[in-house]
Amino acid sequence: MDNRLDTRPHVLITGGTRGIGRAVADELAATHHLLIGGRDRDAVDAVVASYPSAEPFVADLTSEDDVAAAAPGVDRLDALVHSAGITAMGTVEDLARATWREVFEVNVVAVADLTARLLPALRRAHGQVVLINSGSGFFTSPGNSVYSASKFALRAFSDTLREEEREHGVRVTSIHPGKVDTDMQRQIVDHQGGDYRADSYLTPESVARAVVFALSATPEAQVESLNVRPMGR
Ligand SMILES: NC(=O)c1ccc[n+]([C@@H]2O[C@H](COP(=O)([O-])OP(=O)(O)OC[C@H]3O[C@@H](n4cnc5c(N)ncnc54)[C@H](OP(=O)(O)O)[C@@H]3O)[C@@H](O)[C@H]2O)c1
Repeated sequence: MDNRLDTRPHVLITGGTRGIGRAVADELAATHHLLIGGRDRDAVDAVVASYPSAEPFVADLTSEDDVAAAAPGVDRLDALVHSAGITAMGTVEDLARATWREVFEVNVVAVADLTARLLPALRRAHGQVVLINSGSGFFTSPGNSVYSASKFALRAFSDTLREEEREHGVRVTSIHPGKVDTDMQRQIVDHQGGDYRADSYLTPESVARAVVFALSATPEAQVESLNVRPMGR
């Protein structure tokens, strides 16, 4: 890293190569040193090369070995943005046990494991954890059981972490977007059928702005939760 840039706050963004995570990286690139999280080394390196101050954080978050190898390299961290996530659609009747395990592994277990490993650095910095949750963390609908259950669980995790870390000065923000124009939403519409209408969804930038707002809170304040929904016109 260029030493002139070393006074920037350091932020690790999981899922930083695509979708909302990439938009968060774009929004923070002018002010932060970015740790770009992703599981594909080439994709991560390409994103890192596009920013003035960035480094790779390569790990398949479902691999405990990967995370255990990557996390100790992070000795300074002001913010951790969990954006990596997956979805799966299907009725309870149709969903396989393996699907439940896969979705919970990425959306909940990996988030808890990575957070725990990085808490010492976050505490030293009086830092912040931002979790990209979903409207599905509050409400559900037919066909959405596994994703929604994982996001309800993620909200419970966030609420608990916020109370545990209060005494350590680490702030925790849960962000709940509605539908966002990313690959994930394309996958959902593919499954459900119907038209993909990008103009009726949020842009990833809208969610990234919410992350910036949360990270910009004054020191005595904590943005606990934000809902960001499309205007729906
Ligand atoms: N899109 C929506 O409508 C919407 C709405 C509300 C909330 N959200 C939430 O927003 C977050 C980001 O979603 P998105 O729409 O940006 O999704 P996306 O475009 O599908 O991107 C998902 C990201 O997660 C990463 N990822 C998935 N599994 C991983 C693993 N095992 N290890 C490391 N990285 C992994 C992907 O990396 P690869 O490139 O390597 O696959 C990718 O960068 C998710 O938590 C999602 O639940 C999305």
